[in-house]
Amino acid sequence: MSVRTKITFAIIIVLIVAAIPVALIAKSRVTKSPKPRVHPIQNMDNQPRFKSQMYTAMFADRRVMRPPVPGTVARGEMVVDDAFHTGVENGEWVTGYPLPVTDALIQRGRERYTINCAPCHGQSGYGDGMVNKRAEELQQPTWIQPTSYHTDDIRNRPNGHIFNTITNGIRNMPGYGDKLTPHDRWAVVAYVRALQRSQHATLDDVPAEYLNSQP
Ligand code: HEC
Repeated sequence: MSVRTKITFAIIIVLIVAAIPVALIAKSRVTKSPKPRVHPIQNMDNQPRFKSQMYTAMFADRRVMRPPVPGTVARGEMVVDDAFHTGVENGEWVTGYPLPVTDALIQRGRERYTINCAPCHGQSGYGDGMVNKRAEELQQPTWIQPTSYHTDDIRNRPNGHIFNTITNGIRNMPGYGDKLTPHDRWAVVAYVRALQRSQHATLDDVPAEYLNSQP
């Protein structure tokens, strides 16, 4: 074989070998494979885990799928139909309170109100919280101003109605049932009542010693 023929052979072999990766890529683009794709940099993308219905030696009953803890109630399936949880008794809104109203309860209500309600309704309940101020500044056309508590309408709402507004929201207001426990919702109701009274007091609400100090 002449040197020339050898070089020609060598070039042909190099060309064929160089075509292999290209051919493999072309093949994998048109064929399907049940195998996971090549994934050299793992970054914890794949971790050991159990699939449903598998078994393990870790638990005495060898079940991977653990039974719910006794007493577990599926979300939304707990039957709570008493006044404390719904604000409704015998089909009517509760007008009093299903728990004792103490100073501690109102203080708790004040704290929860300041966190959850004041951003919209304002510290004094006029519907002028910071969120409302900002929405007005941005002239948001879809913004509905939070209701002021200081109208006869809201003053005359039964306590249970306000409790229900906090739990489930009302019209454009979102519910806070997932953020405040029933106890805290009643605490907020009591504080909303305190706010209303603070802005709508009569002379009879003023202790006598302060009345006498008037000129
Ligand atoms: C994201 C802003 C926002 C927050 C936070 C918010 N509200 Fe409201 N609230 C509104 C708006 C808006 C309305 C008026 C809804 C409408 O008329 O569409 C409203 C209405 C009300 C009303 C009047 C409902 C009626 O009977 O007409 C009450 C009472 C009330 N909110 C209490 C609360 C209490 C208590 C909290 C805190 C737990 C709270 N809101 C938190 C926005 C808010």
